[in-house]
Amino acid sequence: MSESYVYYQGKIVKEDDVKISVRSKAFNYGLGVFEGIRAYWDDEKQQLYGFKLKEHYERLKESAKTVNLDFDFSVDELIEGTIALLKANNCRTTTYLRPIVYNDALDIGPTLDGKDAKVVIYTQPLNKYAGKSELSVGITSWKRISNNQLPPRTKATAAYLNSALAALETKRAGFDEAIFLTDGDHVCEGSGENIFIFRKGKLVTPPPADNILEGITRDLVMKLAKEELGLEVQERSISRSELYVADEVFFSGTAMEVTPIVDVDHRTIGTGHEGEVCKQIKELFFGLTVGKNPKYAESCTPVYDK
Ligand SMILES: Cc1ncc(COP(=O)(O)O)c(C=O)c1O
Repeated sequence: MSESYVYYQGKIVKEDDVKISVRSKAFNYGLGVFEGIRAYWDDEKQQLYGFKLKEHYERLKESAKTVNLDFDFSVDELIEGTIALLKANNCRTTTYLRPIVYNDALDIGPTLDGKDAKVVIYTQPLNKYAGKSELSVGITSWKRISNNQLPPRTKATAAYLNSALAALETKRAGFDEAIFLTDGDHVCEGSGENIFIFRKGKLVTPPPADNILEGITRDLVMKLAKEELGLEVQERSISRSELYVADEVFFSGTAMEVTPIVDVDHRTIGTGHEGEVCKQIKELFFGLTVGKNPKYAESCTPVYDK
């Protein structure tokens, strides 16, 4: 197997050369924030495109700021490092990037004093995340973390225990994925995805005040629905039973992309298959990830020099 490289503290280094102590606060207390980014491979052009790099690194910096992890790298430096890393690993297939900023102090105690923050980015080939083109989901009994517990706007590593518990419960119950409710019993999101419903001719998605992660794919889906499909889009609270009677339900997310949900809590959604709105948004989405739509070309950063 060829050598794998990572971006670590501003340099491209061998993955095996990066060590994290068993004493690291990142490992002991989950004191870190991260991103999930895709780079899409275009066979026709033999080119790889980093997707929405700027938006992801801006969110990473916001997450780090929120939890008081000080790190010096700018968005531009992180983008440059990402391109160098994809080249170093000679990534020539659709690839997932995982940047993590973590507290690497070694003393005992879950403290966030801003010191000892480190940044690492690794790559992983990733085609389809769900392994299925249509999903069945269940409402989990675990409530979504709230803004005054562990800010969901922040992609904090520790928050993913909440996601993992929800996914475990619903997978054991035979579903493909979980949907969280908030403490106030509004529909929130999946374990790693935002949710949309199409009902009464409108596309609806929960607002940030309902403890969602402000998804980058969610923003794009809202824009595509409004500008390309001429749909009315509402950000408002959704109740559990509204999912059951929606014409369509679907997830959006970097890993999950745009994926239809055809069953919620054993209630068939719409026709029981992908709906027309989801299908159209999916087509628009995949049409722009490799720079083919000039209106959205700035979302895609080419990796290889041509
Ligand atoms: C909890 C959660 N919600 C939503 C999303 C979707 O966000 P994005 O579209 O930025 O990937 C993710 C993935 O990052 C997530 O982990």
